[in-house]
Amino acid sequence: MKIIGVLTSGGDSAGMNAAIRAVVRTALTYNLSVFGIKRGYEGLIEDDMLEMDYDSVSGILSRGGTILYSARSEEFLKPVGRKKAIKNVRRRGIEGLVVIGGDGSFQGAHTLYQEYTIPVVGIPGTIDNDIGGTEYTIGYDTACNIALEALDKIRDTAQSHGRVFLVEVMGKHAGYIALETGIASGAEVILIPEVTTDVDAVARKLSEGIRKGWRSAIVVVAEGDDAGGAFKISKKLKEKIGRDIRVTILGHIQRGGFPSAVDRINASRLGVAAVDMLVSGQTDIMVGIVSGRVVTTSLSKTWTQKKGVDTDLIRIAKLLSS
Ligand code: F6P
Repeated sequence: MKIIGVLTSGGDSAGMNAAIRAVVRTALTYNLSVFGIKRGYEGLIEDDMLEMDYDSVSGILSRGGTILYSARSEEFLKPVGRKKAIKNVRRRGIEGLVVIGGDGSFQGAHTLYQEYTIPVVGIPGTIDNDIGGTEYTIGYDTACNIALEALDKIRDTAQSHGRVFLVEVMGKHAGYIALETGIASGAEVILIPEVTTDVDAVARKLSEGIRKGWRSAIVVVAEGDDAGGAFKISKKLKEKIGRDIRVTILGHIQRGGFPSAVDRINASRLGVAAVDMLVSGQTDIMVGIVSGRVVTTSLSKTWTQKKGVDTDLIRIAKLLSS
């Protein structure tokens, strides 16, 4: 193997740059050349890539976003898009690809491997933490810390004014950010897509709490909760509890910003591991972290065997807010 490529795909997440840096520098120590592919699979299709050296990844460890940019490519989902991509891969002499992204990005990598046998290794990069085969995904820790800081601030205002707040965090299909930041901030209610929401029960809990003397209450809502987003739920709750409810949507501030120490360190570990795997001939796998150790999982398991939310955490959240 002489040349590899690296790309970031799907939603950006803090720590992706640390992973890119680790991939590039590890590859160079193996005397490999590295192409940085821009805008995920779009760059592969359009041959938008540049050769990277040691200095091209200097000073990026502490920066959020991804220096390679990212995209969710519609064209790559079609065979004709992948055909264009592989033509560029072959023309550039790329013999292995590192794909940093979420499950959609991994499905693309897996298909490319199946169709054209190009070796691929995935690194989990998403704030959602919803990938099978790893307890950790790049950017999750930073996103949780950003959301937690916001929740603490909102608590100050909620407490000062005696208000109920609904705070919506990211996670269209996954409630990890909501559940863990909800526990960490002492939220009175946490609503996640993995558990069916009963708005009447939420209203009862809030009304009882207020009667018992709660001065403020915070409901953390995952973006993809089955009862709707925070605005929709707040309307239903307002009618039921007869109180003014304020809504804050945290949105994309959770994705950017300085990566936390955890994200920089783990992204560095996974970047090194991904190149080690490619060089040792492993392919169609993701490198992840389980019980503090770097492990590998076949790419297809990362979306077919998604981990459910930790039921123990759901119990803890309920127990500590009742
Ligand atoms: O997958 C990461 C994520 O931030 C989800 O939590 C969110 O639902 C989605 O991306 C938002 O995507 P976009 O930035 O394309 O609107």
